[in-house]
Amino acid sequence: MFVILNFKAYSSFEGVKAVNAVKLAGFIPTRGYSLVSCPPTSGLSESVKAASGKTLVFAQSADAVEPGKNTGKTTLEQLKAIGVSGVLINHSENRIPLKQILFLLNRARKLGLKTVVCARNLREVRKFSSLHPWAVAFEPPQLIGGRISVSSAQPRIIADGVKAVGGKCLFFAGAGVNSRADLIVSKKLGASGVLIASAFYRASDKRRFLQKLLA
Ligand code: G3P
Repeated sequence: MFVILNFKAYSSFEGVKAVNAVKLAGFIPTRGYSLVSCPPTSGLSESVKAASGKTLVFAQSADAVEPGKNTGKTTLEQLKAIGVSGVLINHSENRIPLKQILFLLNRARKLGLKTVVCARNLREVRKFSSLHPWAVAFEPPQLIGGRISVSSAQPRIIADGVKAVGGKCLFFAGAGVNSRADLIVSKKLGASGVLIASAFYRASDKRRFLQKLLA
């Protein structure tokens, strides 16, 4: 089961704080879970070094452009070169057109990067899983950032999402996930992973939070 920690652009993950959070993830006993940290782009390089192979580091996004005359863009090739293992694509807070999703999926496949394409409804789960990413993540937008988790508010849609993917790729669930109970329910319903952001951001003792989550 994968536990993806999305640091988003929260202030508590700026600069060295993102690197420290990644380091922390590398030292928590994971008991069969695989922790994946998604620091902001500015902290990726240092985070990969800090992870030193103990935990995976994904980018929160990439730009659908080729290396070359593209000022200010982050290419998949740049991510690969610094040792990033995967990338989130089309996150609810950073949506991109289908054409760009396809571009990123094709290129990431060639580069050996894992891809998590985010969907906001079952129709998208079905559509994106047919593109064969590494995983599709279903996050109901209205629950993102809240204190009510998708697994407690809408457990049914996790089961429906797993069914919609039909084994074409991994299925992850996210939005409001904040506890070990959420992980257990998601797993029971067939999800191969969860995405967590605000609960980790809000936790004043991040070590304790991760320990309790993965206990
Ligand atoms: O990418 C994960 C995310 O969108 C879920 O956010 O704050 O509901 O855990 P949150």
